[in-house]
Amino acid sequence: MIQAEKFDTPFKGRSLLTWVDYTPEEILQILDYAFLVKKQAHAGEVHQRFLGKTIALIFEKRSTRTRSSFETAFGEEGGHPVFMSTDDIQLGGKESVKDTARVLGRMFSAIEFRGFKQEHVQQLAEYSGIPVINGLTDDYHPTQALADIMTLKENFGTLKGLKWAFCGDGRNNVARSLMVISAKLGIDFAIFSPKELFPPKDIQEICAPFAQASGAKIEISDKISVVKGADCLYTDVWVSMGEESLKDERTRLLSPYQVNKDLMKATGKTNTIFMHCLPAVIGQEVTSDIFEGPASKVWDQAENRKHTIKAIMLALI
Ligand code: CP
Ligand code: NVA
Repeated sequence: MIQAEKFDTPFKGRSLLTWVDYTPEEILQILDYAFLVKKQAHAGEVHQRFLGKTIALIFEKRSTRTRSSFETAFGEEGGHPVFMSTDDIQLGGKESVKDTARVLGRMFSAIEFRGFKQEHVQQLAEYSGIPVINGLTDDYHPTQALADIMTLKENFGTLKGLKWAFCGDGRNNVARSLMVISAKLGIDFAIFSPKELFPPKDIQEICAPFAQASGAKIEISDKISVVKGADCLYTDVWVSMGEESLKDERTRLLSPYQVNKDLMKATGKTNTIFMHCLPAVIGQEVTSDIFEGPASKVWDQAENRKHTIKAIMLALI
């Protein structure tokens, strides 16, 4: 049985709000833990590494994978997860985020937050005094990005020399998080999207020094040639949670950026894989033949959410 000491990282007690705050070495260390806990889970090992611990799971937005990952990964290790939707608690309404943070900090070992504002996950971290993990905000989805990196590595055996391309809404939380983690880890990353949906300057400026340090090439273009050489095409929904009123405009803008046979061919590679954070709208951002076809790794990716989230919790809590 692996001892808890094994996960005594120098960054225990820290929050994960975005990978911007982590060094490449720290990210890779958590990734190693993810491979370890996946192996243990597949071997049927049972551990109790969260025994006596509690985590508050706050969800302002819906979730299947993220909630299931946190809840099962924490619970099966002996911890007690408590799910709180905004129908259950007063967060940001009758009670400020700051006050909620101070109360939860007295009762829990950690907090997961999925919601709208990055500012709120930051406030929770600032005032709770316990590790806070970002389970998706309008700006970032860091736990997703680590699962995606894990899936890349599983498929290619290495991260070195790889290129992946995000196709679609280049300004969304998933695209931004993939840009950060790629820049940190030295993986070439392209965004293929219409100019109207290019990632804003702030995230490009955040990533530029990381990319320079790691050697990652970051490209943003509305030209299909940007996917050339990609080992993975990645997409996400055209309309993220909270943006439902923009559906018609997004469909008009993003239809030429759908992942389909032609786009896979435009990579110029025969072993390009397909990834999607899910949930997917088949027939919009991806065609059914690609989603259901042999290049699709979406179910491995979904499973890896659980292993990476367990690794993150073991490293931080
Ligand atoms: N990919 C992802 O975050 O899925 P859920 O919205 O189901 O949590
Ligand atoms: N960009 C999507 C990701 C869902 C996991 C959203 O925010 O709705």
